[in-house]
Amino acid sequence: MFDVKTEFNFSNEHEGLVIGLFDRPEKFTGLLAKVDELFDGQLRELVKSGDISPKFKRINKIHTFGKMGVKRIWFVGLGKEKELSFEKARDAFGQLFKTIKKGNLEELAFLLESFTTEEFNGQDAAHAAGEAFALATYEFKGYKQKSNEPEKSLKSLTIYSDSFDQEELKASLTVGYAFGKGTNSARTLVNTPGNLLTASDMADYAKELATTYDFEVEILEKTEIENLGMGAFLAVNQGSTEPPKMIVLKYQGKDDWKDVIGLVGKGITFDTGGYSIKTKSGIVGMKSDMGGAAAVLGAMEIIGELKPEQNVVAVIPSTDNMISGSAFKPDDVITSMSGKTIEVLNTDAEGRLVLADAVTYAKHHGAEYLVDVATLTGGVITALGLHTTGVMTNHEQLYEQVLEASKEAGERIWQLPMFDTEIERVRNSKVADLNNSPGSEGHALVAGAFIAEFAEETPWVHLDIAGTATTSKESDLGPAGATGVMTRTLALFVERFEPIEK
Ligand code: BES
Ligand code: MN
Ligand code: ZN
Repeated sequence: MFDVKTEFNFSNEHEGLVIGLFDRPEKFTGLLAKVDELFDGQLRELVKSGDISPKFKRINKIHTFGKMGVKRIWFVGLGKEKELSFEKARDAFGQLFKTIKKGNLEELAFLLESFTTEEFNGQDAAHAAGEAFALATYEFKGYKQKSNEPEKSLKSLTIYSDSFDQEELKASLTVGYAFGKGTNSARTLVNTPGNLLTASDMADYAKELATTYDFEVEILEKTEIENLGMGAFLAVNQGSTEPPKMIVLKYQGKDDWKDVIGLVGKGITFDTGGYSIKTKSGIVGMKSDMGGAAAVLGAMEIIGELKPEQNVVAVIPSTDNMISGSAFKPDDVITSMSGKTIEVLNTDAEGRLVLADAVTYAKHHGAEYLVDVATLTGGVITALGLHTTGVMTNHEQLYEQVLEASKEAGERIWQLPMFDTEIERVRNSKVADLNNSPGSEGHALVAGAFIAEFAEETPWVHLDIAGTATTSKESDLGPAGATGVMTRTLALFVERFEPIEK
């Protein structure tokens, strides 16, 4: 799929050639000058007239009319040389792949050096290209009888470079592609409707991942979940005809099972709200309530591909949240696996209930650091909008590591506070240790504070992706629908993780 070569020349045959164009005074040097010569200076004219633009993210195509072995050339506008960053290059590549996707092409070559600067080297460019290739060409096939897929799709990329190590370039392309592909898997899980992705389906998917990457896998069935006393998780499943699954994947990258990172993902396959039922417009789209689980599974795929020297246990509590004669109700009091009792005030605050037992169970599997990801509250959308993931933590140093990973991934996160006032609200119940919904003020904060009660002393970071898991607008790196948000942040966090001295 990926090829790296040296010495591009005009007789090399390709369906398309891609050249990066910086906005700089001396327009053409090196190979570009030679191409211009081949076209008798016409290229220079096209740039002058604006038909080919070096402005950031502009994509322009010319035909070569038999003058070269390549049939067409795409120019990618990169803007000012000093302003190019990894994120920007990836967006520009994204635009390119989106444009080319419509062109029925199977194969494409790149002049890598045309994308590099003093600060942005060939490996960075190859990584960005590999990641954008996977992300920007993603499509959810859907279930229409007639598919609208193009007959051909882009299958192979060749990179020409004379100044960077070929093996390293190939590795960078492959790593970038793995990050994109893991994100796409998460997107597909989220885009799949609840009738076609039940908790059992999610468990089957996890088992397949385990087979592919040699993870240890454990799927807890309902009776085992009962025996372990996971009363909070079971309460949410109580109204369903679908059995619950507690899904556990273990990846061991160190000799000993120590410094274990626990990744916990909310896996509600559909959230009706239960007896605290959602509105008829609020309920639509709730197939995405397993976005946290999808991010964890997507990250595990990347981890399986890249095999970092880390230990990871992934825990996913999966069920739908339904209504029936047997469903749990407001006023019910339930007992979690930790022993803490919970007064249910709102059955639509179900995410924190399933996460409570999942966090406890991750600790039972040796997790010494916890990161949970969940489409947890509408409140986080009120607070931060649709482009920023909310974070809470009981451990600033661990949070710093997640923050660094999120910056590298280009996925924005912003910290929300956990003050004693919110902790007190969560602990305020006449009949139980905790309540699951202490009023509508600061939904995101009290939801995080609730989960913190189960993380206890273990360093923990909580990511609320209710606003970011899906998007109604397409972006440079993908279509509308599921974003696969936090897949790459989690994988990078794991890859770069440094144990914290206690
Ligand atoms: N799954 C929802 C949160 C959500 C809302 C995700 C919108 C994506 C888009 C969650 O289970 C929920 O219902 N949260 C409630 C909690 C409240 C009832 C305490 C909320 O935030 O409104
Ligand atoms: Mn809910
Ligand atoms: Zn929910």
